[in-house]
Amino acid sequence: KGANNESRGALVVFEGLDRSGKTSQCGRLLSYLEGLGHSVELWRFPDRSTSVGQMISAYLTNKSQLDDHTIHLLFSANRWDKRSLMETKLKAGTTLIVDRYSYSGVAFSSAKGLDFEWCKAPEIGLIAPDLVVYLDIPAEKAAERGGYGGERYEQLEFQRKVAQHYKLLEDSSWEIVDACQTLEVVEKQVKEIVLEHVTTCQKGKALSSLWS
Ligand code: TYD
Repeated sequence: KGANNESRGALVVFEGLDRSGKTSQCGRLLSYLEGLGHSVELWRFPDRSTSVGQMISAYLTNKSQLDDHTIHLLFSANRWDKRSLMETKLKAGTTLIVDRYSYSGVAFSSAKGLDFEWCKAPEIGLIAPDLVVYLDIPAEKAAERGGYGGERYEQLEFQRKVAQHYKLLEDSSWEIVDACQTLEVVEKQVKEIVLEHVTTCQKGKALSSLWS
């Protein structure tokens, strides 16, 4: 609630390898924007609370096996399930901080060997982020950070491939932040970048769609 009801919220997406610090930074940013009086929510994909999300969760924890194409489409469906609510919230003036989005979808699936353009296709028409904060860290460094949790994709060799595919997705909405810096330094840089974009959206920047 607050001062920003006539203008729309910003769609701010965080991307990066597993253990790059996305979740910590999203949490800190949420408190910061709330403190400034903005209407803001923290979302994440996969959203494991929905029925599609539960299928994804079973796959990630190795409780089920699915064809690579099938799981790709489920991740995408999980975002489509939230598309209209996302639009409603943004138009009502709420800024959404989103932990992973379509870029994860394409980077992880294409790292498995699926065709890059095929991976992008089901994402076409989802709302384009106003800003993608890419937390950049070498896979080796990420792996050193308390180790991976043992989910399906949390392996060094695979994360290296994911990083290569992320690079192919970089566009003008991206800001790359060096995630090897301390949490505090990253936090400060993230706040500055995000605030600038929130202001631009308040001034009436139109919503757009992936991929453009
Ligand atoms: P996430 O729930 O963010 O895991 P964590 O909190 O452990 O980082 O994401 C789970 C995994 O799913 C992660 O390895 C990235 C992968 N992923 C995809 O393969 N496709 C997608 O579309 C998304 C959103 C995530």
